Amino acid sequence: MESSYSGIYTDMERFYLKNDLKPREPDLDEMVIKVISCPINPADKSFLKETLPAFSVPKAFGSIGVGCEGAGEVVDVGSNVDDSFIGKKVAFCQLPCHKNYEGSWRQHINVNKKFVIEYPDEAEYDDICTSFINPLTAMYILNLAEKSKSRAVIQNAACSSIGKMVLRLLNSKGIKVINIVRRDEQVEILEDLGANYILNSNSDTFEDELDQLIHSLEPKCFFDCVGGDCLETFSKMPKQSSLYIYGNMDTGSIFSFSNKELLSSRKTIAGISLSDFFENMGDELQHYYDIVSHDITEGEYIFKTEVVCTYPLEEFDKAIEESHKISSTGKVVLKPWEQS
Ligand SMILES: NC(=O)c1ccc[n+]([C@@H]2O[C@H](COP(=O)([O-])OP(=O)(O)OC[C@H]3O[C@@H](n4cnc5c(N)ncnc54)[C@H](OP(=O)(O)O)[C@@H]3O)[C@@H](O)[C@H]2O)c1
Repeated sequence: MESSYSGIYTDMERFYLKNDLKPREPDLDEMVIKVISCPINPADKSFLKETLPAFSVPKAFGSIGVGCEGAGEVVDVGSNVDDSFIGKKVAFCQLPCHKNYEGSWRQHINVNKKFVIEYPDEAEYDDICTSFINPLTAMYILNLAEKSKSRAVIQNAACSSIGKMVLRLLNSKGIKVINIVRRDEQVEILEDLGANYILNSNSDTFEDELDQLIHSLEPKCFFDCVGGDCLETFSKMPKQSSLYIYGNMDTGSIFSFSNKELLSSRKTIAGISLSDFFENMGDELQHYYDIVSHDITEGEYIFKTEVVCTYPLEEFDKAIEESHKISSTGKVVLKPWEQS
């Protein structure tokens, strides 16, 4: 195996590059993957700002790797993994709560075989490196919407990569989506995607339009990844509605809700995370992997993520800066083997 390995680390105050890493020998169930593409996701940026829930971060760390997903080529496998995987093109996921978390922003990573999707040789690494975090969370959101028998749902930050997936996925199942964004450009982007219900929270008519849509569509689920004013919206929703919190992009947000209202309306508020989906789905995960990989390779585009630009891993600081600017258009992808 090659012998120079680098990865991006954070000590929660800064990101920095380490050049002196050697890949571990794979554990029994692990594959060693040469990482070709890895996206920058909001959770990676939150890592630095210490806004991730405490349970996600291992208790004792000096510094810790960064990144939760990517794509690359399998270069070695543990003894419980079929060695025909060597040389295959794969997408992978590794969450901070997973055993042996290393972070995907590196040249080589050891990943448990449970969190790997195999792709055909023709697939493009940049297209498949976002196969896990948003597509599977969108599936989780669909499951929750279907369980509630809701004909309509509300989502905020709807012009995010996952927001676009949720829109396409739920619409394909006949569930209407009320999309909340914060800028007019985002309204236009979602109109082009065929969204029927789009509200700009900064518009003067927002509250009235929201009241009307809630009255006519009776959404039972609100998927929130922002925080902030989401409770005002939730309080307008029908009895027995649920607020599912899956992100906190408005990082200072702390809210309170009347327990009397919760009691009388039988409403629920819950936090959801992809790690729960992994745990709950067990052997069914492969079914979801097949749906995502088929969609991405066959160009059905429910789970397509636009890659706006790429940066060599060494230029991760510029890449992070850029990712703040273009997040309504798509993702910035890091390339660990490209030179500056
Ligand atoms: N819990 C889980 O397991 C899980 C899994 C997947 C995703 N997520 C969460 O889902 C969210 C979206 O992820 P993504 O990868 O789709 O993001 P993304 O593609 O980077 O898009 C971010 C979007 O959020 C908007 N935004 C940022 N801050 C905002 C704020 N304070 N108020 C309103 N809108 C804001 C941005 O709009 P501007 O252009 O206006 O800034 C942009 O449209 C993140 O919070 C992420 O952590 C959670």
